[in-house]
Amino acid sequence: MYARAPIAMDVDSQRIPAPEAQRARALDSLGVVMEAAARADETFELAARRLDPSLVDVLRILGFDKDYVTARGSYVYDGDGRAYLDFHTGEGFASLGHNNPDVAEVLHAVLGAALVDGVQIHYSPLAGMLAEGLTQRLPAGLDAVFFASTGAEAVDSAMKFARAATGRPRLVSCVSGFHGVTLGPLSLVGDEFFKEGFGPLVPGCELVPFGDLASLEAALRKKDVAAFIVEPIQGRAVALPPAEYLRAAQDLCRRYGTLFVIDEIQTGLGRTGRWFALEHWSLQPDFVLVGKALSGGYVPVAAMVTTRAIHNEAVGTLERSYVHQSTFGRNRLSMAAGLATLRIIERDGLVEHAERIGTLLRDGLADLQRRYEIIKEVRGKGLMLGFELRPPKSRVARVSWRLMQMASEGLFPQLIVIPLHRDHGVITMAAGKNNVIKLLPPLTVTEEEARSFLQALDAVLRDCETDAGKNWGVVRDIAVSAMSGRHRPKRR
Ligand SMILES: Cc1ncc(COP(=O)(O)O)c(C=O)c1O
Repeated sequence: MYARAPIAMDVDSQRIPAPEAQRARALDSLGVVMEAAARADETFELAARRLDPSLVDVLRILGFDKDYVTARGSYVYDGDGRAYLDFHTGEGFASLGHNNPDVAEVLHAVLGAALVDGVQIHYSPLAGMLAEGLTQRLPAGLDAVFFASTGAEAVDSAMKFARAATGRPRLVSCVSGFHGVTLGPLSLVGDEFFKEGFGPLVPGCELVPFGDLASLEAALRKKDVAAFIVEPIQGRAVALPPAEYLRAAQDLCRRYGTLFVIDEIQTGLGRTGRWFALEHWSLQPDFVLVGKALSGGYVPVAAMVTTRAIHNEAVGTLERSYVHQSTFGRNRLSMAAGLATLRIIERDGLVEHAERIGTLLRDGLADLQRRYEIIKEVRGKGLMLGFELRPPKSRVARVSWRLMQMASEGLFPQLIVIPLHRDHGVITMAAGKNNVIKLLPPLTVTEEEARSFLQALDAVLRDCETDAGKNWGVVRDIAVSAMSGRHRPKRR
């Protein structure tokens, strides 16, 4: 369906679209970009040798090992010029679409201006401006910002500040929650799978079931919990909380003197049809964490936003002023990318757009759910959507389904994800170790692109209705090889 790129590949490199290749060649005095283009055929071999062989294996097994060479807007293009509609955007990293030209221009302008950077005795106005831009879009009182490079670092900062501000040791988070993989945030993650082998983790961290107020109250009652950290919509399975949960959790936190931390690293900046998902429940948290989309799809940046009082308690003395800093935290490119992102979202009405296209997609998915028994549930807000699968009723299909479950939890969604990619040029991802497929299209996605996605999904679901469809065979083969692969000796 997304047959060919509307761009001509460069004749020399065959890797970069022609106008970009020309510009890259003019600027690339050290030959970095051109060497990368020339060595594109080695991409996976290099990655397997020097980076991450098991992840390369996974991509190969799923057929995702394409040689993607360029990306624009909602599309990623491979070396043959085939276009792939990206409905995953690196978990929302490219929320403004790939290679957003307006963000790129701002970044060029900042580099061109030869501003001061990396001098620790200096503050750039860009950092203050971005902090101002974020706080203006958050509930009143959240007016102190710490900039970090990754979401995990922002979570880690909140863990530290909450302990320092309250003098309490414990931190509570939710089962099935996700907050990053460095040691601090990992200690809050709600799936054991991520933690295996990495212990001992940070002491004092404890999980409660998402949506269960009684368990939360039981955990807070001793009044020694510094913070309750929660995603407003859990990203792993696109799980929404019960209607009253977050407001009541906030009340419990207030009652027991626990700080209330909302992790908006995935849900923030327009994703759910609001600037921040906390607006859906009129929350007034003590911390909001932002990341991913703030990068404009270019430069790592994340932020911990809290109250001035908490900030003061944690690091507000002359002696403590430098104990929580980060080399790249306020660098000019990150700050400029963040500022460009806020301005583009505002200028182009992307929050409202996300709400509108999100409704179109949700309605389309609900229609597919009515027509195909394999879809168990459709959920989400704005452009953060998920649909959960269940096995079809036929006996043979259920046997295949059980085999897939035995091979690997979370393998079943590949029945949809693989053919969407292979046959229709659509990128989606299984949400995690569950039966959910998560959709995070760019906020700039058009109505036409949303409709094409629904058509492609319709075609794939039609094929999956019977166990005889070719897709079942592909995923069954993966299941069998995964089960035999378990006995392979570990790489050293
Ligand atoms: C809700 C949430 N918090 C934190 C993180 C960690 O962010 P990063 O990968 O930038 O460290 C993620 C990443 O997926 C996330 O979804």
